Amino acid sequence: MRPAKAAVGKGWELSEVSLHSPGWVSRGIVFTAVRMLSALVRPLTNLIRSIVCQSFIHPLAMVGPRVNIGRGCLIGLCRLDTMNGAGEISIGDGTVVYNKVEVLVHGGKVIIGKHCLVTRRTALITGGHRFNRRDELIQKQGIVCGDIRIGDDCWIGYASIVLKGVTIGDGAVVAAGSVVTRDVAPYTIVAGVPARPISVRG
Ligand SMILES: CC(C)(COP(=O)(O)OP(=O)(O)OC[C@H]1O[C@@H](n2cnc3c(N)ncnc32)[C@H](O)[C@@H]1OP(=O)(O)O)[C@@H](O)C(=O)NCCC(=O)NCCS
Repeated sequence: MRPAKAAVGKGWELSEVSLHSPGWVSRGIVFTAVRMLSALVRPLTNLIRSIVCQSFIHPLAMVGPRVNIGRGCLIGLCRLDTMNGAGEISIGDGTVVYNKVEVLVHGGKVIIGKHCLVTRRTALITGGHRFNRRDELIQKQGIVCGDIRIGDDCWIGYASIVLKGVTIGDGAVVAAGSVVTRDVAPYTIVAGVPARPISVRG
């Protein structure tokens, strides 16, 4: 089927937007409205969560449903997205999640231990699109998920990416800019793309 073309709103008139289905426009409007509403109530829900968890949660942090935050945590302006509760996130006591971290849980769980540092611009991603078949759009092949577990006292360095199914042992360090595709043994320092052990702590 040929993709439908739709000119969207004033100011967009010069560019035609090619869409797979005209329904995307109405779905997009509903999606945006729901997102705007939830953003409006976010400071209040985050304040209530902060009090209940005895942690600091940034007023504008996006904290989805089925996110459990321990005591004494510092949650910056980040995105803890469980895709409307399809997945689950658990953060242990005393853990710091810095600004611009994205935890995207399409399904399954992300479990972060106690007293960890998850530094800026890091992404923890439990899902990925299936792409085995050539005769079907990747968009339609569904998503495959795997839990991510991070032990206690771990330091996940700046702008790292941790992919589905990875377990990072207690006390491990992930160097800045690494992409972690395999399990990391406890107290091991890993670096690079893909991340490989470079040394051990202590
Ligand atoms: C992981 C880290 C702590 C290692 O520090 P270190 O023990 O002093 O290690 P070194 O600098 O001696 O490097 C050891 C080896 O690992 C390599 N390495 C270090 N960091 C690396 C990185 N991010 N990516 C790829 N390789 C890296 C070095 O090139 C060196 O390789 P070589 O032996 O072949 O020369 C540090 O490199 C790092 O990434 N820190 C994160 C900083 C950060 O994210 N800060 C955010 C604010 S809290």
